[in-house]
Amino acid sequence: MPLVTTKKILSKANKENYAVGAFNFTNMETLQAIISAARELNSPVIVQSSEGTIKYMGLDYITAMVTSIAKKEKIPIALHLDHGSTVEMTKDCIKARYTSVMIDGSALKLEENIALTKKVVDLAKKSKVSVEAELGKLGIISDFIMSTADASMFLTNPEEAKRFVKETKVDALAIAIGTAHGPFKNKPKLAFDRIEEIKALLKMPLVMHGASGVPDDDIKRAVKAGINKININTDIRQAFSASIKDTFAKKPDTYKIRAYLDPARTAAEEVVKNKIRLFGSVGKA
Ligand code: G3H
Ligand code: 13P
Ligand code: ZN
Repeated sequence: MPLVTTKKILSKANKENYAVGAFNFTNMETLQAIISAARELNSPVIVQSSEGTIKYMGLDYITAMVTSIAKKEKIPIALHLDHGSTVEMTKDCIKARYTSVMIDGSALKLEENIALTKKVVDLAKKSKVSVEAELGKLGIISDFIMSTADASMFLTNPEEAKRFVKETKVDALAIAIGTAHGPFKNKPKLAFDRIEEIKALLKMPLVMHGASGVPDDDIKRAVKAGINKININTDIRQAFSASIKDTFAKKPDTYKIRAYLDPARTAAEEVVKNKIRLFGSVGKA
């Protein structure tokens, strides 16, 4: 089927209380791994590219691959821009036929974040593209949370979230609840009560970033509390890279590209399958 929006995928997840994986791809092999895993488990899936990946692969390669593959698949697939930093970037992706974009104004003051996000919502809605935004200080919490007595100042404030969504009309909101991007130095401490509080106020799809390395039981609790989109990048990258290192350890002289990319792709697919099972989206296609 043609690419669908994240709004479509996430409103069903919100109604039925499960989460859909939003997996970052970096190249053709990681993209293939994500789509094969979702196909095998009959799950909807969000494939997402960071601005770094767009710079690396090129928008034309990305959209040519993703749009043509999606058409042949029976599962719903959304193509999403992860952490868009400018209105221009979101515009380029909308023009290239992404079905969803994130505008990340989380480092800005609330008013500035609202103004920036509103601009993106206005232009995205014209093309029926979904918008995700972020509120709270996500990236720094996990480093602080073990040592700071009151880490709640970094978490998303529920009243601010209510105002933010009312004024911007975003389709999904990424909230800071104790996770961070990249590998964790310490076990993250998630604020499940904060997820519940925000969910009760907003009743809309909520997004967890920085979910790699979060223990399985915590992921399950977060989904139960109201998370509907879960972003995974690091776990895929680590499995892919570990497999390549392993191939070279065994065959240091190999020059055959497929000899190390093929097992790496399989390793990435295994990670994605495990996450899909954990998030509860098996059979929800
Ligand atoms: O959330 C952000 C990504 O995990 C960072 O990925 O290295 O492709 O920018 P990147
Ligand atoms: P991880 O680094 O935990 O995989 O986070 C990915 C993410 O949030 C992408 O937006
Ligand atoms: Zn993120």
